[in-house]
Amino acid sequence: MRARSVLVLLVFAVVTFFTQAAGAEVDREKLLKDPGVYATFAVFKVGDQWSQMDREAKAAGVMEVKKVFQKYTEKLTVDTYLLRGLSEKADFFLRVHSKEMLDNQNFLVDFMGTTFGKALKNTDTFNGITKALNYVPSFPEELKAELKTPPPQGSPYVVVVPIRKDAAWWLMSQDDRTALMKEHTDPTVAYLKTVKRKLYHSSGLDDLDFITYFETAKLDDFNNLVIGLLKVKENRHNQQFGNPLLLGTVRPLDEILEILSR
Ligand code: HEM
Repeated sequence: MRARSVLVLLVFAVVTFFTQAAGAEVDREKLLKDPGVYATFAVFKVGDQWSQMDREAKAAGVMEVKKVFQKYTEKLTVDTYLLRGLSEKADFFLRVHSKEMLDNQNFLVDFMGTTFGKALKNTDTFNGITKALNYVPSFPEELKAELKTPPPQGSPYVVVVPIRKDAAWWLMSQDDRTALMKEHTDPTVAYLKTVKRKLYHSSGLDDLDFITYFETAKLDDFNNLVIGLLKVKENRHNQQFGNPLLLGTVRPLDEILEILSR
């Protein structure tokens, strides 16, 4: 009887050891939802060095990139976007989320160290952190309820707008900023069904104050949404809006690597 218990315990210990050693993939849903998550947006243009390589060398280079992505699945999640065709400045960008900025850096250093990575020009990088809502808790109940509208899923387009506020914005009282943010929110609720959004805070982590991220299937809606926001007083405090603004499509890594290897 005792020998059997020891055996069961031993099997349990071995299984636990190997499960942990194999490592579990990071919880993507949680990382994309939680506050206190670090995000790095890294934007790249493919150089001639890559375009001039033969097919076999490119195929080997693609495998190298996939291995680096695989190596970090326990620590972080990477979303991939194609810019080529919609931008002359860059070909694709990566959105990396993790609990430690160091992991974002280590991943990107490894990625840039691959044969493909060495042929890239890193045209822009933005860093930010996700936070709990600052103004919504003070909004009227009706508006708060509207903001719970479920966002669209599986949209093909992505837009990223880096934003820097002026000093006057930060010198305002919390109540005054809440009033202006309510005015910001009022014209946006009509777009909650077609535009999915995510906000990153960048003050002190970048030259920006915010990275605003959007996914949509309706770029016409997004265009009208932004026009609506350009008309509210809060916009007077936007010292930088875009520049660069990224417009691209949400695509899997394999598809991006295939397109960029043509
Ligand atoms: C469906 C569209 C949108 C909705 C529903 C929306 C709503 C909101 C809400 C409720 C907040 C306050 C968050 C908080 O309590 O901390 C906020 C913040 C913000 N939004 Fe929007 N927004 C939308 C689109 C946009 C767009 C298109 C931009 C600019 C490109 C933008 C830029 C910002 C910025 C920079 C903040 C942070 C302000 C701050 O914390 O000082 N938003 N938005």
